[in-house]
Amino acid sequence: MKLSLSHYLIRCEREHGIESDLRLLLETVARACKSISHAVNKGALGNVLGSTGTINVQGEAQKKLDVLSNEILFEANCWGGYLAGMASEEMDGPMGIPLAYPRGKYLLLFDPLDGSSNIDVNVSIGTIFSVLRSPSSDEDAGETAFMQQGTRQMCAGYTVYGPQTLLVLSVGHGVQVFTLDRDTGSFLMTQSNVRIPADTREFAINMSNVRHWDAPVRRYVDELLAGRTGPRGVDFNMRWVASMVADVHRIMTRGGIFMYPRDARDPTRAGRLRLMYEGNPMAYLIEQAGGAATNGERRILEIQPTTLHERVAVFLGSRNEVERVTGYHQA
Ligand code: F6P
Repeated sequence: MKLSLSHYLIRCEREHGIESDLRLLLETVARACKSISHAVNKGALGNVLGSTGTINVQGEAQKKLDVLSNEILFEANCWGGYLAGMASEEMDGPMGIPLAYPRGKYLLLFDPLDGSSNIDVNVSIGTIFSVLRSPSSDEDAGETAFMQQGTRQMCAGYTVYGPQTLLVLSVGHGVQVFTLDRDTGSFLMTQSNVRIPADTREFAINMSNVRHWDAPVRRYVDELLAGRTGPRGVDFNMRWVASMVADVHRIMTRGGIFMYPRDARDPTRAGRLRLMYEGNPMAYLIEQAGGAATNGERRILEIQPTTLHERVAVFLGSRNEVERVTGYHQA
């Protein structure tokens, strides 16, 4: 019989001493992701496709499902008493816990629906989340409470809403994959202790930005594209879903390198992806699975954040390739 998420988390509590409040928080997040999965599945039948006509703090047009997923995660998590605050890609600042409910000891960060450009075209999208300990548990967390390095994450995970709904989770003891069983409504473990191969012949990057990249990224990708007759001496394959969750999940499954480098389109930005609820949780999961994650210069997890929505360049996946492209930045 397959292990349910609840059973796995109880085992982590007994064997690894994870706190019971953290277990209960993760159960709540998983329940919320189940609701999001149902909404995603309904699509046009649930009148959830299309845009709201509003713009989020990132300057991006909000989709109905972005807003709905944000509400589902907030409402599911605001009353349990586990959190001192939440932060989301869709909200300008930290979301306080309503006064009627007790405060808890954790901070929850999420990208409620990653891969927005794929929502209306029925391609995999997902939710990314991360949990930090709150510096203070009896008052609402302001932005500074969230400014912790990724190494301080207590756990991180993502769901993929694709042909199956998957929950991929690490509480610091490897990475486990759970598949949503729609008959019973349970997440059941379908893969344990995921390991990413150190070598790969597959890369993921948005090639349309090639003219904007820095020299080290161009050099690295040129060498991959040169294939068997180039300096690498082997052919490489390229994949780009344009949903980070789906691209990262492919890497979790069979290896690869995912890159979203800084580029010259906007020199004030460190990259496109957000450090706190995209870069950090994914870097944590990738490292837990034996891979590597850098911004081209250092481990993503060691970057000291300064603002909630700051951006980060991302190179993550199979260790030897991430180390190579990171080395090119240092050459
Ligand atoms: O929000 C970030 C995101 O949608 C990621 O999920 C994805 O990897 C990336 O942006 C896609 O970027 P682009 O539109 O350049 O392909």
